Amino acid sequence: MAEFTLPANSKIGVGDTYAATGATNIKTFKVYRWTPEDGKNPRIDTYEVDMDSCGPMVLDALIKIKNETDSSLTFRRSCREGVCGSCAMNIDGTNTLACTKYIADVPGDIKIYPLPHMPVVKDLVPDLNVAYAQLASIEPWLKNDSPAPERERLQSPEERAKLDGLWECILCFSCTTSCPSYWWNGERYLGPAVLLQAYRWIVDSRDEATGERLDQLEDPFRLYRCHTIMNCTKTCPKGLNPAKAIAEIKKMMVERAV
Ligand code: SF4
Ligand code: FES
Repeated sequence: MAEFTLPANSKIGVGDTYAATGATNIKTFKVYRWTPEDGKNPRIDTYEVDMDSCGPMVLDALIKIKNETDSSLTFRRSCREGVCGSCAMNIDGTNTLACTKYIADVPGDIKIYPLPHMPVVKDLVPDLNVAYAQLASIEPWLKNDSPAPERERLQSPEERAKLDGLWECILCFSCTTSCPSYWWNGERYLGPAVLLQAYRWIVDSRDEATGERLDQLEDPFRLYRCHTIMNCTKTCPKGLNPAKAIAEIKKMMVERAV
């Protein structure tokens, strides 16, 4: 089993600089680099990118760097259109998606780090194993023991509308990794992304496990470590409101207790 642990007393050092020779329209990217195998401290490498031959998004620049300058640069990406959640990283101090972040929206040099407070697998790739285990713990699928209908399980327009603002979540974990409560108690607090997913199933009119789901969340850490700091809602690149979903779960807890 690989261990994703930085060297003791590790400090981020200054790395290599890659110049865009001959280019006149240059943007500079300062990118966090760390490789578990070499035992060295992390470093910031500097890449100059010729913007006359680069797409408009931060992900375009990362792909260009990897293809043309430094094939060792490692990051996740898949859809390149904001629907898979793979390319979440910290850009210019904010957790967001590299594929939907315009380079032009960042003045000056662009600083890129992995999602904060997660173990790093390599460079910009966070280890999301704990986060996915937490997602599995809320059993994110429809639970319904009633006899299967002949056709689909119907919802009224009003029931379906309750899922808006929830189904759009792409599980990028930008919210979870922006949350100080999760930084401090990430092993026990489920974090905003997973709690938003939990609420998505709690309010689904077709699901019959609402009580069981609330029982599973009734815990001083799993749910109640949310202190309404609101970083999650501020950072969500899909414009969702995980803090509201968490507040709605807390409200349901109170309502069922009285
Ligand atoms: S709520 Fe937003 S930030 Fe959080 S995982 Fe879903 S899409 Fe990403
Ligand atoms: S590559 Fe899929 S969300 Fe960015």
